[in-house]
Amino acid sequence: MHRRYFLSLSAISCLLTALSGCSKTGGDSIVIGEFASLTGKEATFGISSHEGTLLAVETLNAAGGVLGKKLELLTEDNQSKAGETSNVVNKLISKDGAVAILGEVASSRSLEAAPICQQNGIPMVSPASTNPKVTETGDHIFRVCFIDPFQGTVMANFVTKSLNAKKVAVFTDVKSDYSKGLAKFFKEGILKVGGQIVAELDFNGGDKDFKAQLTAIKSAAPDAVFIPGYYTDVALIAIQAKQLGLNVPLCGGDGWESQTLLDIGKDAVEGHYFSTHYASDAASPAVATFVEAYKKRFNGKMPDAMAALGYDSAMFLADGIKRAGSADSKAIRDALAATKDFEAVTGKIAINAQRDAVKSAVILQVKDGKFKYLETVAP
Ligand code: PHE
Repeated sequence: MHRRYFLSLSAISCLLTALSGCSKTGGDSIVIGEFASLTGKEATFGISSHEGTLLAVETLNAAGGVLGKKLELLTEDNQSKAGETSNVVNKLISKDGAVAILGEVASSRSLEAAPICQQNGIPMVSPASTNPKVTETGDHIFRVCFIDPFQGTVMANFVTKSLNAKKVAVFTDVKSDYSKGLAKFFKEGILKVGGQIVAELDFNGGDKDFKAQLTAIKSAAPDAVFIPGYYTDVALIAIQAKQLGLNVPLCGGDGWESQTLLDIGKDAVEGHYFSTHYASDAASPAVATFVEAYKKRFNGKMPDAMAALGYDSAMFLADGIKRAGSADSKAIRDALAATKDFEAVTGKIAINAQRDAVKSAVILQVKDGKFKYLETVAP
């Protein structure tokens, strides 16, 4: 008898939660959904961004939470697979009642989530997706990183000026929105400064044999090769380029940044260059404090750019909730859109009219099996 009474009460409360749009914010916590590539081909991206996000949420909760409530972070894995993100993001919104969504690193998967968040009126903050189309989806979509028209220009200038390369080849992953976009902006940048594109070749992320394309690139005799890919593919490309005697600087963007690039690529990636969002060895107090806290929480592991951006995405969202004075999704959206000077680990964030963060990039070089900071480029 007693038991039945309890069951029916909980059934009623479930029904009420469902009818009220599932928002659990009336209770003692604010539900934040996160989607990430925790397993699969780009697992280090998702693991890093998730760890940064988790550290931010734990830090906020230890200090009493936001608006007097604890943040409840619900994390879903999309396995680095196309198609899986829509399943998990729909679940986070409709079943779990997330008032905002954090995610993810790879642009193609953020592009899958963005229309779902937009249609449901749920603000989404991507930590690290740099393709311009992500935030173009609609007024609920934000990011805490720079975009690829900037990153492409930064690397075009670096290649032509610092490396003095005038004839450049471009090797693009045609399965990735990120790679296609960054290749395009890089090429435009090269042409603008009077450089020449001597070869343009394609691959499909996940390929294992790049020798045919690399042979074609070699015969075009470039001074440098730009490969806007992700780390697993780039490591294999670098190994095969070395085997074929293509001994010119290889360059890329933030997609290179993973310890796995070094583990697989070894001496084949030595000396090459890429742009990214942050350097853990940069001399800033905010970076030093974050690196200390992250290492303490995750067994001495050094945080990469995705970890820093994951942390920033959650802190940025929490700041928006505070300024909104409410965990209502629309109020959060409006507060995020009004962000003018948020101090993030990866630099100061001002959200522009396109809901992108206007921030500096850094250029790193693989040196003695590590990523070495070379320079910071302001927008
Ligand atoms: N910018 C990449 C994308 O949009 C993802 C990425 C971000 C990779 C940061 C590494 C570091 O797909």
